[in-house]
Formats: sequence, C-alpha cells, structure tokens
Amino acid sequence: MTAANNYERVQHAGLREKIMSAEQAAEFIQNGMNVGISGFTGAGYPKAVPTALAKRMEEAHARGEEFGIGMLTGASTADECDGVLARAQGIKFRTPFQSDPTLRKQINAGATNYIDVHLSHLEQQVRYGFFGEMDVALIEVTGILPDGRLIPSLGIGTNNQWLKSAKKVIVEVNSRQNILLEGMHDIHPDIGVPPNRKPIPITAPNDRIGSPYLECDPDKIVAVVLTDLPDRNSKFADPDDNSKRIAAQIIDFFSHEVKMGRMPKNLLPLQSGVGNVANAVLAGLQDGPFENLTGYTEVLQDGMLDLILSGKMLSASATALSFSPDALDRFNANIETLRSKIILRPQEVTNHPEVSRRLGVIAMNAMIECDIYGNVNSTHIMGTNMMNGIGGSGDFARNAFLSFFVTPSVAKDGAISCIVPMVSHHDHTEHDVMVLVTEQGLADLRGKSPRQRAKLIIENCAHPDYRPMLKEYYERAEKAGGLHTPHVLNEALSWHQRFVETGDMRIK
Ligand code: COA
Repeated sequence: MTAANNYERVQHAGLREKIMSAEQAAEFIQNGMNVGISGFTGAGYPKAVPTALAKRMEEAHARGEEFGIGMLTGASTADECDGVLARAQGIKFRTPFQSDPTLRKQINAGATNYIDVHLSHLEQQVRYGFFGEMDVALIEVTGILPDGRLIPSLGIGTNNQWLKSAKKVIVEVNSRQNILLEGMHDIHPDIGVPPNRKPIPITAPNDRIGSPYLECDPDKIVAVVLTDLPDRNSKFADPDDNSKRIAAQIIDFFSHEVKMGRMPKNLLPLQSGVGNVANAVLAGLQDGPFENLTGYTEVLQDGMLDLILSGKMLSASATALSFSPDALDRFNANIETLRSKIILRPQEVTNHPEVSRRLGVIAMNAMIECDIYGNVNSTHIMGTNMMNGIGGSGDFARNAFLSFFVTPSVAKDGAISCIVPMVSHHDHTEHDVMVLVTEQGLADLRGKSPRQRAKLIIENCAHPDYRPMLKEYYERAEKAGGLHTPHVLNEALSWHQRFVETGDMRIK
C-alpha cells in the first residue's frame, strides 16, 4: 500500500482536510480524560496515536506533571496500545478487559484501577455515565466513504458506542486492513433504553439487522491519522496433548447429545473462548462427523476460519477476527467468498443474553480453576491477582444452551491443582456451569446436586496427584456439618494458602 492510495481511503473532502500526524492528533488528549479506544483481542486497535500519546505522557512525567487517562476499549488490544500506555504509567483506570503483561503488573500493584466488566454490559454502562463523560474516541477504521460513513476494520467491539458518546473523535485509517472488508459488518440500529427497549431481531447467526458502516458526525471528527500497520496477529501453538484430549471429549459429548435428541445433527451455534484449548476444539471439529455448523461467538480465531474454509461451517457471527499471521493470509486470499459467511457486529449484540438464549449457543470457555461443586474462577490467580478479566465468558455461560468450562487439571508443573475445594474467586457460579472438562475426563453436572457433582468432578476431572486429597477433604466436609454443599470452612482455601507459603498445593 503506497502513501497515495492510503490517502485515497479518506474519500470525504472535509475529513481529508483533517489528516495530520499521530503526534498532532495525540494533542487532543489531555490528563484526566476518558478515552474510548477501538480494539478487540488484538484486532482493530489504533496503532499510531497511542505511541505518540505515551511519549507526551512520559515528557509530562519528566516535568513532574500528572498525565494519565481512563482507558475504555472493546477488549484487549496489543503492545502498541495497552503496552505503550502502561509503560508510560499513563492508564489511571482501565475497563473492560486486558491481557497486557505490564498493565497486569500495574493493576496487581494497585497503581491502575481496573474495572472487570461483562463485555455485553459495557456500552450500556457508558451510556448511563457510570464511568463519567467520554471525552475522546480513538478508532481504527478501514476507510472513510465520501459521505463520511466509516468502514470498520477487523474488530468492532464498542466502536459504535464510543463514536456516539465521545465529545471528540480521532480516526486512524489503516490501509493494511483489506478494503474488501467493506460489507462484512452489521451495525445494529439503536435498540433503545429501558423500559422501551426493542428486541434484537436475530433468529439465526447469519441474520443481518443493520448497516455495514459506522456513522459519526464529521464535525465531531477532529483528526484523521493514516497508518499502514498489521494487527497483533499472534501465532497459535499447535494443540498439545492436553488440549487434544479435552477437544476429543467435547466432540464425543456432542455426538452423545445428538444421539439423545438434544441437539440437531449440525449442533447449535458454537461460541468459543480465546486461547489454544478453544482453538484445539475447533480444530478437532474439522475431522469430526458434524456438517453445516454455525458460529455465534465473540472472537473468531483460526479454528473457526478453517471450519468455514473447509465447508464444515456455513456461517459465523463475531465482533472481531483475531488470526495468526498464516490464518490472516488465508482470510485475505478467500475474502470474496468469506464476505457472505462472516458477519462482524458490535459486542453488545454478539454477547447479548437475549440472542444467545434464543439461538441456544454452545459456550466453550477456559478457566483458571473450579471447585468440587462446579463454581468457576476465570480471572484471579490465588484469589487476589488479576489475570485478564471475565471478558465475554459470563455473557455466554449464563445464557448458553450448553455451557462448558475447560482447563488442564494442574498448572505450574503440577504444583497447582486446577480443581480445588473452594475457588479463590467466583466468576461463574455453579448455576452457570454445565460441563467441566480436563485432560483427565469430563463431568456432566446437569441435573446433579452439589454432592453428586463433587463426586463426579473429583473422580473424572482431578489429577491423580490431587484426587486422594480432594476425596479426603470432601469426606471430612461431609462430617463437618451442612450437607447441601459440605465444606470445612477454615480449610476451604488452605490449598491456596499453602501454595502462597510453599509454592506447592501438595502437602510435602
Ligand atoms: N492457578 C494459578 N495459575 C494458573 C492456574 C491456577 N489454577 N491455571 C493456570 N494458571 C496459569 C498458567 O500457569 C499460565 O501461567 P503463565 O502465563 O505464567 O504461563 C496462565 O495461568 C494461563 O494459563 P493457560 O493454561 O495458558 O490458560 P489460557 O491461555 O488458556 O487462559 C484463562 C486461561 C482463563 C486465563 C483465559 O481463558 C481467560 O482469560 N479467560 C477469561 C476470559 C474469557 O473467557 N474470554 C473468552 C470469552 S468469549
């Protein structure tokens, strides 16, 4: 892409007048402002202005001045966005999701306030001012049409909301994004506010209900910055043995459910969380017996792309495309056919409880740990340190037809059991968790009481090193008192405490 056709991506005459450098655009952002930034799981985040802003922050700090912002996004971004701003000590508060190592350290050191929000809730919370006013929106797009409408890039997330609520808008036009993305997006009309909110009329994953373009009053756009840079595009590890075992069990379980007449032969729309295990399940479906699959998910990764390319999956709806470099090449090479099979929507719609429940989504998400009763912790290490955030896992888990949580049975070379007596933090309660899967086995918790669940989880999912310890805990808990959900309360978190003190949950 040359500088000339980069410039041609801005077809609105008035907005061409506002093309400027990232440094000039960054001047619109001041200390204490709330900035709504595009970006979802490493896709569609701004790639130039955050670095220029971080430089201004560092210069201000060197002069002894305060300079930090409230940073709101769709979900995680990348080093050129969360990373640079965190290293500049420039993020005062952050919501709703992140996965950046520097920012994670600052959150866990108490230097940045982090508000971990269900992704489907964020836009409404901003609309009602829970975070204060939105000062600036900083949004990456693929192009600007002559009438000022914006062609979104690989991720939509919360962009629609940021454009509506921010007082000023900075647009990065990234010519690295394929111009043929035009038409793949579906921005829903206003669904209104309670008590007069209207239904979201999606009855199949590939239904279109809105316009392919984002809209913003051109007068509100104060700067247009031209970029030509790739998204984060991290490579997936090849599925390891644990991931393959987890994937194989889920696929067997699907066959069982079809046989029982609980799901159609082409299953129900699949939602798959981020990461290698989730990707391995989708890779496993490639060789599985199911045809004509559909996806109704949040992030579409390599596994789902390949299902679509092979013809196993008919269509998928997501809010962002987060591919490895190879998968991005496959996507770009086939974009003409993929345009009718993939729909990108705002996260308020992809993650909306109403739609998940109506479609009967099959939700598959990873966890950090679960307890013997099926409560799940997806976010906190040893109950106190934030890992990433709840993301969309709660949106899908609670409203899915079938909700899976997966993890290897142990972490840190066996020093941590991912099945514990009591989770050290609750993200998904036992009420939202239907099936747990580790490389050891699968526990189908549907229709089971807490005591029935405990026996299944310990027997099927726990690692052999920890199974006797869990059994022993459970047997003592049964003698200790309440028999609905038996616990020895002053021991329930002792495994975590032992790890904090000795570096191992096992008793030496
Ligand atoms: N206790 C402490 N640490 C643990 C642990 C446990 N029970 N289980 C895993 N870990 C550590 C791992 O050792 C690893 O540490 P490292 O980064 O130092 O190597 C890290 O946590 C990640 O574990 P991993 O097994 O690689 O998991 P993952 O990459 O599949 O991610 C989650 C798992 C839960 C962190 C991730 O899926 C997540 O953030 N989920 C919440 C959001 C979500 O579900 N989004 C999708 C919704 S659509």
